[in-house]
Amino acid sequence: MRFIKPLAAAIGLCASSLVFANTQLSVDTTKPGPVINKNIYGQFAEHLGRGVYEGLWVGPDSKIPNTRGWRNDVIGALKEIKVPLVRWPGGCFADEYHWRDGIGPRAQRPVKVNTNWGGVEENNAVGTHEFFDLAEILGAETYVNGNLGTGTAQEMAEWMEYMTGEGKSTLAELRRKNGRDKPFRVHYFAIGNEAWGCGGNMTPEFYTHLYKQYASFLKAPDNNKPKLIASGGHTEDTSWADHLTANVKPNWSLRMDAVSFHYYTLPTGDWKVKGAALQFPETEWMSTLVNTLKMDQFIINNKKVMDKNDPEKTVGFYVDEWGTWFDVEKGENPGFLYQQNSLRDAIVAALNLNIFHKHADRVHMSNIAQMVNVLQAMILTDKEKMILTPTYHIYKMYVPFQDATSFPLELKNVPQYTLGKQSVPAVSATAARSKDGKIYLALVNTNPNKAETVDIDLAGVKINSASGQVLTAKAMDAHNTFAAPNSIKPEAYSAKANNGKLALELPAKSVVVVEVK
Ligand code: AHR
Repeated sequence: MRFIKPLAAAIGLCASSLVFANTQLSVDTTKPGPVINKNIYGQFAEHLGRGVYEGLWVGPDSKIPNTRGWRNDVIGALKEIKVPLVRWPGGCFADEYHWRDGIGPRAQRPVKVNTNWGGVEENNAVGTHEFFDLAEILGAETYVNGNLGTGTAQEMAEWMEYMTGEGKSTLAELRRKNGRDKPFRVHYFAIGNEAWGCGGNMTPEFYTHLYKQYASFLKAPDNNKPKLIASGGHTEDTSWADHLTANVKPNWSLRMDAVSFHYYTLPTGDWKVKGAALQFPETEWMSTLVNTLKMDQFIINNKKVMDKNDPEKTVGFYVDEWGTWFDVEKGENPGFLYQQNSLRDAIVAALNLNIFHKHADRVHMSNIAQMVNVLQAMILTDKEKMILTPTYHIYKMYVPFQDATSFPLELKNVPQYTLGKQSVPAVSATAARSKDGKIYLALVNTNPNKAETVDIDLAGVKINSASGQVLTAKAMDAHNTFAAPNSIKPEAYSAKANNGKLALELPAKSVVVVEVK
């Protein structure tokens, strides 16, 4: 509770009649908003470091228990968070990936060098068939990122035919020869990645021409047409979303279902010295929050230009790479982007998910980078060992929001968490009705030093109680290790209403997800 000192002083209240004002969360359950597409909870698995190889794929001959090469422990944990979608094979890797290298007998596949990520050998053990097998094991939709940078329109079109061809064409028959009779279900396909950078250092104008050319030749049967994604901008740059939506006019032979967007959270904002994953000062807790919350304005800015060009909202805005990016752990290959994951990452995840829910009318997909062992991962592995990260726990707590119907909400009297010259709102919230009809709230307290109380109002709905989970810890950098895998995990949380009024106590630096009854 906060005492409104200036107000009390102004109206001459004495100490015995102190005025308290909690944060107030008003949720309008009478005006359901857009559905929170489950693919906002999408994942990204790039051929990078120990992300795909070791983190997910150990091969069928490994001593680590596996299903056709995919490790059982990691798969089991990923099933628990109901991974709805996986993006593969990159990232920057995608624009140097030639799909023919990854089909046929594994022993005969060419060995390449992963020039983007650590210069290590890429033996192509994971290719098209393995990726779709992973998606089928997980029950996830598929997002294949095509190679625009070093491929050709023909190569891309042929990959599509190989994956989706139904008849007796040579490519469909080749897929059958390689063990897959039925076409693969390709839900999403992207034409290039980060065309402004590793994908070819292009301008929006140049890329837009290429997009139109490549998209024209991506043909698939009517019942298996992927949504096509154009490579968009990053950080504050809206020119990609603007140029693409203004200039790609879909017709019978040309489609564009979404424009992608990338934004990473660096504690310092400086790519040379990004900041450490652990043992950081409070100033970097704060700057991480300041930087991650910029996502909201970036989406607002992009939506503005898209609304101008595409008022019917036919084109989605997919944040298909986001998350924390710290200095790589000591002793790791710098190209492997391996980093620890702490309570701070959990707060970042929850804040961004709340932002994506708020923009569910355009943001139909997000892919946190990346699923295992890379950047803000769900899971870290060390050979046969595995730990779940605080970010994993947030994804699990937020499962009820997948395909839930968002509610408009208003937060009032939100205190600021301030440190030096920087300041962020102490409370963030989201609310939705889950697919099974229950009302869920997720609340974040960004302040590492102070608990907050939030009074809940559900537009007249009588509340009896709330129950769910809270994720918090004593230290800002609380994290799990292979020696102590359960140092930070969610705990049960419940609250009872008083005369139909519910107040939720949010511990300092916490995320609370509850069902309200
Ligand atoms: O996620 C790591 C890399 O970050 C991706 O390969 C690239 O698209 C981005 O720059």
